[in-house]
Amino acid sequence: MKNQEKVNELIEKRVEARLGGGPKRIEAQHQKGKYTARERIDMLLDEGSFEEYDMFVTHRTKSFGLDKQQYLSDGVVTGHGTIDGRIVFVFSQDFTVFGGSLSETFALKICKIMDQAMKVGAPVIGLNDSGGARIQEGVRSLAGYAEIFQRNIMASGVVPQISAILGPCAGGAVYSPALTDFILMSDKSSYMFVTGPKVVKTVTGENISTEDLGGANVHATKSGVAHFMSTNEEEAMLIIRKLLNYLPSNNLEEPPVLKCDDPIHRLEDSLNDIIPDNSNKPYNVLDVVHAVADNHEFLEVHANYAKNIVVGFSRFNGRPAGIVANQPCFLAGVLDIEASRKAARFVRFCDAFNIPIVTFVDVPGFLPGSGQEYGGIILHGAKLLYAYGEATVPKVTITLRKSYGGAHDVMGCKQLRGDCNYAWPTAEIAVMGAKGAVEVLEGRAIEQLRDEGERAAFILQKELEYTEKFANPYQAAKYGFIDDIIEPRNTRFRIIRALETLANKKDFNPPRKHGNIPL
Ligand code: HXC
Repeated sequence: MKNQEKVNELIEKRVEARLGGGPKRIEAQHQKGKYTARERIDMLLDEGSFEEYDMFVTHRTKSFGLDKQQYLSDGVVTGHGTIDGRIVFVFSQDFTVFGGSLSETFALKICKIMDQAMKVGAPVIGLNDSGGARIQEGVRSLAGYAEIFQRNIMASGVVPQISAILGPCAGGAVYSPALTDFILMSDKSSYMFVTGPKVVKTVTGENISTEDLGGANVHATKSGVAHFMSTNEEEAMLIIRKLLNYLPSNNLEEPPVLKCDDPIHRLEDSLNDIIPDNSNKPYNVLDVVHAVADNHEFLEVHANYAKNIVVGFSRFNGRPAGIVANQPCFLAGVLDIEASRKAARFVRFCDAFNIPIVTFVDVPGFLPGSGQEYGGIILHGAKLLYAYGEATVPKVTITLRKSYGGAHDVMGCKQLRGDCNYAWPTAEIAVMGAKGAVEVLEGRAIEQLRDEGERAAFILQKELEYTEKFANPYQAAKYGFIDDIIEPRNTRFRIIRALETLANKKDFNPPRKHGNIPL
């Protein structure tokens, strides 16, 4: 064969590989409103930046007639490219080849890029669209999954791992995304479950659709498995790109600082009035977050799950920060099981990747009741406590209004190594609210009052006294638990100055194999 013929052969093979399972299956994929593995990579990465690995890999299975069905790339496209000029490693499952099912060689391809990403210190992004284990390969496929799981675990806290679910993801296959830092699901075209509707019907008798069992909406609102939900695949890729913009490439790097055009001294007068006069009235804490962040930008994570707490990313004078904020306009911002888990995982992610944490506190306490106790609120609440306490990144906490009881301690208080703990003049920092406190402290006196009017007046009087004495930030400030009481409209500047002061902060935990977070 002449040289040019050899080159032509290469070109032909590349064309063949790029066709995956062939034009008919590509057409079927498009008919479902889905893109192919390679189209997705093109949408995700900077134009022309993708370098593919292992395009010529094929499976090694001979049984079930598979020796006659060989597809170059074997159902997964792997390689690296850039997002906003920064290197990322990617794998994209190709549903047009055996339904994107995972063979031994398919797994090896993914493992290769994961190993490389770890060495290079670059994020791994997985685009999932697969029928699961390649049935014809039996246990070799299961072993392949386990190889990937092991790498997900080793990469955890070392390089960011992001999973997009863009089609089926079922059975044990769900556990690779579950081990990654963020899961995004595309609405109406993706699902995740450990057992599908048919098995559910056989085992429990429950009739449930694929969408209701494991669709994007379910996981973004009910289970919390999905951190993000996109309306389509284009939006999915944009969200991933946006997310990476806040993250360092690995745990030894600082998150990317961007030039900031938003004035650092920008005063937000609206914040002086945002807290309603009646402290039981809600307001939207997102208004506070947007008001103080650079260019009012906030990338919310888990936006529709456990809405009583808000988490996500913003920048302050160009520096990324993780935001945690109680949300008074949902369940009064109470801490419950879901909110605790959501925030704990987020705080730990930020700590693992050197992202400072800014906390806005307005929390009436933990949600009482048997439902919460039976569900283990003690352990779940402790997760958040643990997460804040172990975090060594800069921690800036601003108490906007309520900060009561155990929830006060949990939400990034001074003694959990909070670096800068500020409060607005509207803050109420105490063991409990006035109503509860008066019931406990004055219970006997109240009982002795027979006249209802007299009793109501007495309770009101005592509540007012308690509020006057304790429902303010000055008690906490008196003991140095609050470093300063700040004017709300100046909050942006105070956060920026705190984060800049803390930029070189070093704090350490004792040497140990690992802690034992209450899982
Ligand atoms: C081999 C598979 C496959 C699989 C699909 N295909 N899943 N081949 N192994 N797991 C092939 C089909 O034979 C078909 O080939 C092509 O992919 C497209 O599949 P369709 O069924 O035509 O597509 P669709 O109607 O869209 O249905 C998609 C699907 C369905 C819902 C994913 O294919 C399905 O139920 N597949 C099996 C899922 C499953 O049970 N997987 C194992 C789970 S257990 P042709 O040649 O016709 O195009 C598991 C354990 C993991 O994954 C454990 C990890 C620890």
